[in-house]
Amino acid sequence: MKAIGFYEFGGPEVLQVVELPDPIPGPGEVRVRVGAAAVSPTDTLRRAGIRALDGKPAPELAEQGFPLVPGMELAGVIDLIGPNTETDLQVGEHVVGAIFPSGTRGAYSELVVLPVESVVRTPEGVDDIAASTLAMNGLTAMVSLETLQLDRGQTIGVTGAAGTYGGYVVQLAKAAGLQVIADAAEKDRDLVRSLGADVVVERGDDVADRFLEIAPDGLDGLADGAVLNEKVARAVKSGGNLVTVRHFESAPVNGVTFHAVRVRHNVRDTDKLDRLRRLVEEGKLSLRVARTFPACEAAEAHRLLELGGTRGRVVLNFGD
Ligand SMILES: NC(=O)c1ccc[n+]([C@@H]2O[C@H](COP(=O)([O-])OP(=O)(O)OC[C@H]3O[C@@H](n4cnc5c(N)ncnc54)[C@H](OP(=O)(O)O)[C@@H]3O)[C@@H](O)[C@H]2O)c1
Repeated sequence: MKAIGFYEFGGPEVLQVVELPDPIPGPGEVRVRVGAAAVSPTDTLRRAGIRALDGKPAPELAEQGFPLVPGMELAGVIDLIGPNTETDLQVGEHVVGAIFPSGTRGAYSELVVLPVESVVRTPEGVDDIAASTLAMNGLTAMVSLETLQLDRGQTIGVTGAAGTYGGYVVQLAKAAGLQVIADAAEKDRDLVRSLGADVVVERGDDVADRFLEIAPDGLDGLADGAVLNEKVARAVKSGGNLVTVRHFESAPVNGVTFHAVRVRHNVRDTDKLDRLRRLVEEGKLSLRVARTFPACEAAEAHRLLELGGTRGRVVLNFGD
């Protein structure tokens, strides 16, 4: 099978088509013929040899052996079910899947073997391209909200709200009955409002001031998709929680507790993946695709993502 991988860390140009043996599913696993794989910031960091959580070099990645194949989420068709695998999924069914890449096992591949817990049926009426954008950031957003433990009517702040993770947090928070105050650049205001934010404030390093203008007693919780960390923490009330999507170590600041969410611990959470599927079917989560590239143009896809400013996910098409 063909995959997109790299033999050395570096810029987008290191990505190339690699030929690999077809993976065979073992007990408890399924093999998916990938139609589409979404491109995330974490993939570009992996390609550059940088640890996503703390932005430091990650020599341990090289220990997995080259080529390395990136990609954390995919959609496609089940084409093999491993022996002794309990599932009601059938060969030929469309599924979405989440994967924490390791070695040559990543989503940028024609064929990917995953634990059966990591795949669920594709939402009704959704094609592989759009479906490939659901699992990874959907899970991260869902876990973030669970971590914040907010009750209906409480106020959540969201930074990076126009992004994939931030957008899902806004939509899930609205579905949970929260008051949502989200940041956005002027050009993204309508987008973020259309996702359900009650109030949209201008983004920036001093966004905490604007959150506090709307919620003078402080936010009950905050999902920090823009990774502003301590710059935004003072917008949260004492006793509140802040979820960071990158590693941020800090003792509580002004009584605000920091929680680092790591989706790698949740890629086998079938129940959450299934809830995400249903939320898409109910129209409560929207799948946003910025642009599609043929898989062999993965380098171009990474360049586009790294330029910043894409709204919706960049997706690699393995289907044609
Ligand atoms: N820990 C985990 O398990 C996990 C899982 C999923 C995602 N993540 C992380 O979550 C973050 C978001 O991921 P994503 O896929 O949603 O990325 P994305 O789609 O690129 O969204 C990030 C958003 O933040 C905006 N932004 C950047 N700097 C900002 C600032 N200073 N103030 C306000 N907004 C700012 C970006 O705008 P521009 O495009 O204009 O720069 C973009 O809209 C990434 O750091 C990713 O690595 C972590």
